[in-house]
Order: sequence, then structure tokens, then C-alpha cells
Amino acid sequence: MITALDHIAIAVPDLDAAIERFAEDFGLNLKAREDVESAKTSAAFFPISNTSIELVHPLNGEGPVQKYLDKKGGGIHHLCFRSDDIEADIKRLKTKGYEFLSEKPSLGAHNCKVIFIHPKSCDGVLIEINEPQNH
Ligand code: CO
Repeated sequence: MITALDHIAIAVPDLDAAIERFAEDFGLNLKAREDVESAKTSAAFFPISNTSIELVHPLNGEGPVQKYLDKKGGGIHHLCFRSDDIEADIKRLKTKGYEFLSEKPSLGAHNCKVIFIHPKSCDGVLIEINEPQNH
């Protein structure tokens, strides 16, 4: 079951400059900075209320976020729903015809299990589902 809006991710061409903007100008607190090898991203998380803003930047200039930046220069990249049972949600959504970017969840930021729904299944919006390992 989907239980929360875990985060909204923004793809940024300059991670340090974007971190400074969200910290200094918007006054949010940087909670974590993390390289996620599996997704080829470098990410920074700013919790706010019950959700977070995730700034994503390509790791070593590769991967899907680099392609996104090449095409769009930056912007809202995906939103992420938290699930209390990701396997059950994947199964339920597959039954309804949703397509996913991978067969199975992988380990994402903060060791969550994560999977992405194909944007063509959601009016062009890239949606991540995550399940924290220690909920
Ligand atoms: Co994310």
C-alpha cells in the first residue's frame, strides 16, 4: 500500500550550487548526500514537513539523469511514493497494466528497495516507489 509522498526529485546540472540554493536561500536542512551507484546518481536530501526534496545529479556524467539534463537542462525529474509492501504494490499495478523500468526492485538511496514505473504508464510522469528496509 502506498503510504506517503516520500520525495520529489529535481535534476540539477550543478549539485553544489543547488544545495546552496536549497540550504541558504530556502532555508532547508541538508540531511544526507549520497552517491547511488546502482542509479548512477549523486543525491542530496532536504526533508520538509513529511516529505523531502531530492536533488539528483549524474554520477561521473553517465546514466539516465545525464540524458535528462542533456535534453532538458534540469527540472522536476520524478516523484516517489513510499510503500509498506513494494512487492504487493508492483504485483497489483502490473495486473492493471502498468509497466516498470526494471523487472524487480533494486537498492536505492538509504538502502530502500526502489522501482520506477514507466512514464508512459503515468501521463509522462516518472514515478518511483520505495520501501524503507527498516519500517
Ligand atoms: Co528518488
